[in-house]
Amino acid sequence: MSREDPMQPNRPELRSARLLLRPIEARDADAMQSYRGREDVTRYLLHEPLSPAATRARIAQALERWDEYPAEWFSLNFAVELLGAWEGDGAADEDGVEAIGDLRVWNLLPDGSGPASEEPSIFWLGYAFHPDMQGKGYAREAAARLVDWLFDEHAASEVRAIAWAPNTASIGLLEKLGFRAFLTLDAEQEPHPKKLPAVHLRIDAAAWAARAAPTAPAAPTAPTAPTAPTESEES
Ligand SMILES: CC(C)(COP(=O)(O)OP(=O)(O)OC[C@H]1O[C@@H](n2cnc3c(N)ncnc32)[C@H](O)[C@@H]1OP(=O)(O)O)[C@@H](O)C(=O)NCCC(=O)NCCS
Repeated sequence: MSREDPMQPNRPELRSARLLLRPIEARDADAMQSYRGREDVTRYLLHEPLSPAATRARIAQALERWDEYPAEWFSLNFAVELLGAWEGDGAADEDGVEAIGDLRVWNLLPDGSGPASEEPSIFWLGYAFHPDMQGKGYAREAAARLVDWLFDEHAASEVRAIAWAPNTASIGLLEKLGFRAFLTLDAEQEPHPKKLPAVHLRIDAAAWAARAAPTAPAAPTAPTAPTAPTESEES
């Protein structure tokens, strides 16, 4: 169920247990550059470490896409804040709370020039977090919240992500959410100059709903005698 503010359907604010996901803002530039400006964070991203000016340009483009929302085709960049940061640990100032990472969901190219998927119900997901905020489950929690939102609020049929094969942190995150690989490209097939093998992963609406559904208690069954294994079980 969505916790989107019904008063501001064009400015969704999504909450999870520990996080707030909100539209990226111009004031997020310093925070974003503190991680997207790093070599270790961008190693498996499409872009090289961002300069402050490149970060501002990236956010300016994201704001243009937010101005067009709601729309059937979109590319939306969310900043992630720790909910606890509002509660007096010093992370909040008059400008608000510093973002710890950001995620983007899209079926439209980031410059708005055309579709990024063959159908509007197929979305892509991407993310990057500050290294100080990795290894705490925040990225997975944020990604799960956004995937929920796409299936609940945007009738997504499928959500996809692309990771380069050596990016085991990202592939592990996606697999723990239930994404499964459906395409692998070796380094020569990969158009990007980084020339790394790529894994394309996806989850569809039925698989996401099955993952979210509470497990029904197993009906009691009478003990049965062991049977001989079938051919397929033996192989
Ligand atoms: C990809 C990226 C977002 C993954 O971040 P991450 O913090 O490692 O991912 P998660 O949120 O899944 O956290 C995982 C770890 O947090 C730890 N953790 C601690 N507390 C936790 C909690 N409450 N819940 C879940 N995990 C928790 C777990 O040990 C877990 O590791 P495991 O899954 O191996 O057991 C991060 O590496 C990154 O920003 N990379 C640079 C950008 C990038 O490559 N983006 C992806 C391009 S495809």
